[in-house]
Amino acid sequence: MRPTERAGTDARAAVVCGLGAWLPPTVVTNDDLARRLDTSDEWIRTRTGIRARHVASPGMPTSHLAAEAGARALESAGVHDVDMVVLATTTPDRPCPATAPVVATRLGLTGRPAFDVSAVCTGFLYALATGAGMITSGAVETVLVVGSEVYSTILDPADRSSSVIFGDGAGAVVLRAGHRSEDGAVGRSELGSDGSLADLITVRAGGSEQRSSGAPALPADRYFSMWGKEVFAHAVTRMAEATRAALAGAGWHAADLDRLIGHQANVRILHALGEYLDIPRERLVIHLDQIGNTAAASIPLALAYAQSTGELAPGARVALTAFGGGATWGATTLTWPALKTV
Ligand code: ACO
Repeated sequence: MRPTERAGTDARAAVVCGLGAWLPPTVVTNDDLARRLDTSDEWIRTRTGIRARHVASPGMPTSHLAAEAGARALESAGVHDVDMVVLATTTPDRPCPATAPVVATRLGLTGRPAFDVSAVCTGFLYALATGAGMITSGAVETVLVVGSEVYSTILDPADRSSSVIFGDGAGAVVLRAGHRSEDGAVGRSELGSDGSLADLITVRAGGSEQRSSGAPALPADRYFSMWGKEVFAHAVTRMAEATRAALAGAGWHAADLDRLIGHQANVRILHALGEYLDIPRERLVIHLDQIGNTAAASIPLALAYAQSTGELAPGARVALTAFGGGATWGATTLTWPALKTV
């Protein structure tokens, strides 16, 4: 999707003007997991870079995390209202209806259009492109874009290969109409998908493929599964290609980038991505050590983390990229704006 191109000579753009994040308070360390699974802190750290993750308490749905992050993003932007809410999630509160209207109502935005976007770990970039496109088309002036996940609800607690990787959390940005020359203007979005890879990252049951009447789904089909090694290889190549295309769209070279914010799945993937793109490690934002892979929430959570540490200063040139189930992938660029930290 190329919003600025579609707008022709129109310089209207979607500009990031608010940022918020929220993590559930319960922290589960690698040692905590090693007490109930055949794993170790050493294996998890060396294979993934993850040390701990936050986990939502039972009964705390995705909408709760999303509303907490969304409220902080609205406060950061200094607004109480937006024209639209877009929520990226793999773990909606219910299969039907969408979760975004619940989030909008919790934020006092009843009546506003609100819908979910499902692109697994690339979900936030798809939602950002959707919100930005709605603004550049002139349909709306402001959008709240949220990524929120409670992955702990779809993981098999006995599966050491997935239980150690994921964490729960939410992050959000507010977009407003502005000019493409402004700091915070969202650049061209390079998005892609390949449905032949649908089995690589999946929860088989709960959709139309398996009927809800009749025999109950096999336990394994109710849980998340991932072919880790295959995903690893696709993730690096697709994120590298998408980032290169997004940089070209911005007229930047990799050497111009101050920070690359890749989907926080595995530190080895991020290091490999940096090597592919010739971006030194000190310019990679690494947040997964503290929170694990938070899927659609990982990019906005990494943005909030990097802003809080001062890694993202106003004027910094930033690329965002992700790969996830579907398979889906994407990348975009922006120059970091001055934002109020909440
Ligand atoms: N503790 C100890 N041993 C383990 C664990 C664990 N938690 N998990 C797996 N192992 C074992 C395996 O059983 C295997 O043992 P074996 O050799 O005796 O069979 C061995 O460790 C190696 O397993 P691999 O799966 O080959 O390990 P790998 O080095 O590939 O790491 C991982 C697995 C972390 C999942 C990695 O492949 C990865 O990060 N993949 C990419 C994930 C990703 O990018 N996801 C992005 C999208 S996610 C989304 O969209 C939701």
